[in-house]
Amino acid sequence: VPIADLLRRPAEIIGTDNNAAHRDIRLPADLYRPQRENSRGIEFGERNALDKLTSAIATERKATPTAVASFTAEQTDAAVAAARRGFRAWNATPAQKRADILVKAADLLEQRRAHFIALLQSEGGKTLDDALSEVREATDFCRYYAALGRKLFGEDEAMPGPTGESNVLALRGRGAFVAISPWNFPLAIFLGQVTAALMAGNAVVAKPAEQTPLIAAEAIKLLHEAGVPASALHLVQGDGAIGAALVTHPQVTGVVFTGSTEVARSINRTLAAKDGPIVPLIAETGGINAMIVDATALPEQVADDVVTSAFRSAGQRCSALRLLFVQDDVADRTIEMIAGAARELKIGDPSDPSTHVGPVIDAEAKQRLDAHIAKMKKQARVHLAGEAPAGNFVAPHIFELSDAGQLTEEVFGPILHVVRYRAERLGEVLAAIEATGFGLTLGIHSRIDDTVEHVIDRLQVGNIYVNRNMIGAVVGVQPFGGSGLSGTGPKAGGPHYLARFATEQTVTINT
Ligand code: NAD
Ligand code: ALA
Repeated sequence: VPIADLLRRPAEIIGTDNNAAHRDIRLPADLYRPQRENSRGIEFGERNALDKLTSAIATERKATPTAVASFTAEQTDAAVAAARRGFRAWNATPAQKRADILVKAADLLEQRRAHFIALLQSEGGKTLDDALSEVREATDFCRYYAALGRKLFGEDEAMPGPTGESNVLALRGRGAFVAISPWNFPLAIFLGQVTAALMAGNAVVAKPAEQTPLIAAEAIKLLHEAGVPASALHLVQGDGAIGAALVTHPQVTGVVFTGSTEVARSINRTLAAKDGPIVPLIAETGGINAMIVDATALPEQVADDVVTSAFRSAGQRCSALRLLFVQDDVADRTIEMIAGAARELKIGDPSDPSTHVGPVIDAEAKQRLDAHIAKMKKQARVHLAGEAPAGNFVAPHIFELSDAGQLTEEVFGPILHVVRYRAERLGEVLAAIEATGFGLTLGIHSRIDDTVEHVIDRLQVGNIYVNRNMIGAVVGVQPFGGSGLSGTGPKAGGPHYLARFATEQTVTINT
């Protein structure tokens, strides 16, 4: 084809509808069906199922491991070098086989649900509902990334081109991917990161949080048992210093990190300062998440959704509600209802199925939260200050601030801050939310469509929930992740996530 023709008639040459050539990355229901957040009614439909599950958990508790070794810097280096060596074979493993292994891992997770719940309770302090939801989310990640990976990595994409030439676009693994995860979803986020990186053809070095090493060790064992070769998946245990050492390694070709903004920044600086190839960072961090409640909202629903969003998981979710803006006309009644509902929460032993709020992760976290509570007691109006049992427990608290700017950092526990606003000053509320710099989750309770649309248009927030609670994003349904100080933007459990772990290659052959 003459060059002049190529330039003049692009539509005829490359096809009339460019978009049609793009792969459809939506997944049909027969490939992936998400499991919803736990609802006791569904989960325990069978008579006595709760009793059976709790007794299986009690048995497993006796069989859970109790110790793991921390790694040295040399072992950490060796793990990256071994991953780099293992990469080629794993990347060459057909995507369908990699996906089959992830499906097998999901099956094993389901079979060992009681074992992982026992660990999530003993090591992570999770209540039964939270632990159950977490095992489900981890299973969802395995199945979703497997289904998505079959499509994205299963076949190279033929690009339309001139006669006499074949053009093919392929997604390939990048090399040795480091996955660093937090303690608050020690199974779901840990496995979500690792399975996404593996599905994309990378060898992985996983470093879990130092607070939850046993869950991670068991999850890695399960992946190996499912068929991930030892050479493609390596576990490194240790604290932040080991994480910092890992990302400096010259053979690291990608990093996925979930945790605090401060650590994400430090990893970003390390990667930017390294010689050699430019290493991409996928960072998913925290938030000062807000909810706006106007006078048209349904008070009972608001109370229920606020209590769930602020206090479930002892407030230890990155998505949790921290800053509640309530229109002044309804503020007194709304706050009273929320405080009333929060008083009903049972705080205590997470292995007791009737517990709503378990412990915070460790004594250090409790100390930080207690210090914040003491500060707020001096600066704010106290609406709720419950008593917690002895141990690492923090009771739900509600403080009313005169100005949202009084909350300057993410407070990672069951502490809700409330600010009243006047309807004509909604603009100031939006400016205050924007001023936090975070953009992870946002709740809106309003029956006025224009208000809802205006807020959605105005704010850059990753996950927005209207007239419901704002936690518990479901894999493949509510792709999850934020912007600004909340992360680099990729949505875990969403259709574009896997591609972020891959590199693209175009091959043109003159036939
Ligand atoms: P963290 O940042 O203290 O630690 C996270 C991980 O990073 C741990 O494995 C830790 O050992 C490691 N680490 C610490 N310092 C490091 C360094 N200098 N270099 C490399 N690695 C280092 O966070 P955390 O306390 O474990 O978790 C709570 C935080 O995670 C909260 O801010 C929460 O909002 C956030 N989070 C975000 C999401 C999300 O999806 N956006 C999900 C869960 C938690
Ligand atoms: N993905 C978790 C949630 O939505 C953090 O609550």
